[in-house]
Amino acid sequence: MKILVTGGAGYIGSHTFVELVREGHEPVIFDNFSNASREILPRLEQLTGKTPVMIEGDIRDTVLLSRTLSQQGAEAVIHFAGAKAVGESMKDPLKYYSNNVTGTQSLLEAMQENGVRKIVFSSSATVYGDPEQLPIPETHPLSTANTYGETKLVIENMLRAVSSSGPGWSVILLRYFNPVGAHETGLIGESPDGIPNNLMPYICQVAVGRRDKLQVYGNDYDTPDGTGVRDYIHVKDLAAGHVAAINRIEAPQCTAINLGTGRGTSVLEMVAAFSEAAGKPIPYEIMGRREGDVASCYADPGLAREYLGWEARFGIGEMCRDAWNWQSRNPMGYE
Ligand code: NAD
Ligand code: UFG
Repeated sequence: MKILVTGGAGYIGSHTFVELVREGHEPVIFDNFSNASREILPRLEQLTGKTPVMIEGDIRDTVLLSRTLSQQGAEAVIHFAGAKAVGESMKDPLKYYSNNVTGTQSLLEAMQENGVRKIVFSSSATVYGDPEQLPIPETHPLSTANTYGETKLVIENMLRAVSSSGPGWSVILLRYFNPVGAHETGLIGESPDGIPNNLMPYICQVAVGRRDKLQVYGNDYDTPDGTGVRDYIHVKDLAAGHVAAINRIEAPQCTAINLGTGRGTSVLEMVAAFSEAAGKPIPYEIMGRREGDVASCYADPGLAREYLGWEARFGIGEMCRDAWNWQSRNPMGYE
């Protein structure tokens, strides 16, 4: 299938691009490089043996999007493009409403104009807020405590409204838990700008000597070792989940599906697993809790299994091995 992949030069988009090509699809990347490097392109070529088809542009440019959909003959869209830093979203909410919400509205308008009505959207477990139930099923009440999460909820609602506005729309909302790891070749991986906000890239930068030690945010949670518990999912599994969603996109629907492993891992368990994979200790210090963090968050992955026939294959050991392989080969990321 010809698929427009917005944000396809980013972390999850690039891994999904490789998986789509491997499965015989024809993805077209649409990205403005606001959080990606052009260095990704030769690497994608090396991984797939094909020069990636790439349109540089902003999803808020409806005219360019519309022209791209029509010229490329796209039949479906996988929509990754957006800004994703929780802290930044509280300081600069308009950037998040503009990029994420206005950007998605522009994309849907361009799709409507061209009769393209199949979309897979990158949502997040953040839409479950502070979980009332674990593991978290898709039917869990939706709420959120930060602007980034609000934009994901608004977009989910926009997509639900569009899909019920008339026949022909097929929408799959993929709610990711915590994507980590990298392609096993070490050619592509996560390359955050500045100080990493998230656990795995921070640990990677400590291991490679770019940072002294990890700050562990709180060891007094109601979890087995007191540190936060999350559902880490290998980015290759996540990419495979998108291919499974694309294979299910024909039927008219609006379906929300968790992509997680169903297993929770604490911060200290992750530190131990990474130390083993890298063959070196990861120095850390215990700090106070980070504002807005929840104690535990992990998926009920049952619907993904039933509906998409998809299940995560990789465990924490493989996630740490591949993250370390990427970071040690590319100490400064794509820079
Ligand atoms: P990323 O920043 O690596 O990728 C996003 C890509 O979109 C980048 O290449 C960026 O240049 C591009 N982009 C941003 N705004 C754009 C715009 N206006 N027009 C065109 N391109 C634009 O992030 P990622 O980790 O790959 O995340 C992809 C999606 O998954 C995002 O929507 C994110 O919110 C969602 N998500 C990510 C996580 C995570 O932990 N990484 C978890 C849940 C959901
Ligand atoms: N943590 C540390 N030190 C760090 C970074 C994180 O101890 O330097 C801890 C956190 O307190 C938390 C765990 O590691 O207990 C995971 O934190 P991350 O920041 O890696 O991930 P979050 O679960 O907080 O959030 C991420 C994304 C959100 C997304 C959510 C669910 O940042 O955007 O996963 O998909 F919504």
